[in-house]
Amino acid sequence: MAPDTKSLLIHGAHVVDSAHDEATDILVQSGVITAVGKGLSSDGVAAVEAGGLTCLPAFCDLHAHFRDPGQTQKEDLASGSHAAVRGGYTAANLMANTKPVISTYAQVKDVLTRARDIGLIDVHQCASITKNMDGVTVNHLETLGHSVRIISDDGHDVMDARVMLQAMTAAARLGLTVMCHCEDMNLSGTDYRLAEDLMTHRNIELARAAGCRLHIAHVSTEGSMRAVIAAKERGQAVTCEVTPHHLALTSATNYRVNPPLRTQQDVDFLIHAVEQGWVDAIATDHAPHTADDKAAGAPGMVGLETAFGVCTTTLVRPGHITLARLTELMSTNPARILGLNKGCIAPGYDGDLVLVNLNTPWTVDAAAFASKGHNTPFDGQMLVGRIVMTIKAGKIVYDDTTSNQEARQ
Ligand code: DOR
Repeated sequence: MAPDTKSLLIHGAHVVDSAHDEATDILVQSGVITAVGKGLSSDGVAAVEAGGLTCLPAFCDLHAHFRDPGQTQKEDLASGSHAAVRGGYTAANLMANTKPVISTYAQVKDVLTRARDIGLIDVHQCASITKNMDGVTVNHLETLGHSVRIISDDGHDVMDARVMLQAMTAAARLGLTVMCHCEDMNLSGTDYRLAEDLMTHRNIELARAAGCRLHIAHVSTEGSMRAVIAAKERGQAVTCEVTPHHLALTSATNYRVNPPLRTQQDVDFLIHAVEQGWVDAIATDHAPHTADDKAAGAPGMVGLETAFGVCTTTLVRPGHITLARLTELMSTNPARILGLNKGCIAPGYDGDLVLVNLNTPWTVDAAAFASKGHNTPFDGQMLVGRIVMTIKAGKIVYDDTTSNQEARQ
């Protein structure tokens, strides 16, 4: 009998998520996990022999720039999707600061349709908070339809508090989450720390007044994180993300990114907040640029293909958090914020899995990235935690088993 091509058995991996830390098998049928248990039969089913490897729920990135449409010399939906699966991701939330800015239902639909045709990852496309990110117009929010769950002007903040309040009030009514890049752009040239801290407080207060769900992007300072913690302590509907680079690097690494790399004290406090459970998600802020744009001062770095290795090396190996907790930060919680049926290894969830090698250190080679962007300060760095295979809905979408044979002996 020919094997059932709509099913896949992951056999012999060490399975880790918040409910598992054990060698067990996983069966995916018609795209969905149907069984998790020891000794599942592989009769008539295609099987991945995963001995020596660790299986996690595939990652969901809450914050990525794919630059499509308009800046496809930096990235496009295909190259971004390939970078994502190479990094263990099967879902990404794309920012709206494309050219043109994404502000309409038709633009969102266009991205979603093209991403689906590529077929490697699930995409959520943010629409902008203000139309064309003009900082003043919000009436487009009424026309976005149900495919948009999150709005963001990421790259910028909305400087006029009255406009932001209008947008947040509309978001509350429409059930949208407002994702904020917190930065007082009049201040950032003078004091970028104050610029972030101040606007984190402002955005939290405006969201409280409007009663909308708020997500604070790329928290980088102790002050901003303390503001988020205070809001959570009083029960406000606030979530936050931190990036791998703000957890792993300080300003001693001379690399331009917004918000900037901060002090050791900030890094220590962010890690403390991760340990204490205040941080909901680790998101990449994958920001590809051409070498020329980077040389001309464009802020940002690519992150999809290094995030897991950076997080394993920075957070798990030194004992700050367990691998299971990392899956909550990279898979479970971002999937929940995006409203996806992913991020857990249990019957009924999407069959989105990642096999990783935790044994063999590897060296980041930016030239080998699937992303068109090679802008990363992690180039040449040795990391632990490498993606070997990414599976989406039971289909293998990335396979690097041949270069990882040694992990399996
Ligand atoms: O460094 C950054 N780059 N921060 C942002 O907020 C935007 C991003 C970009 O779009 O390049």
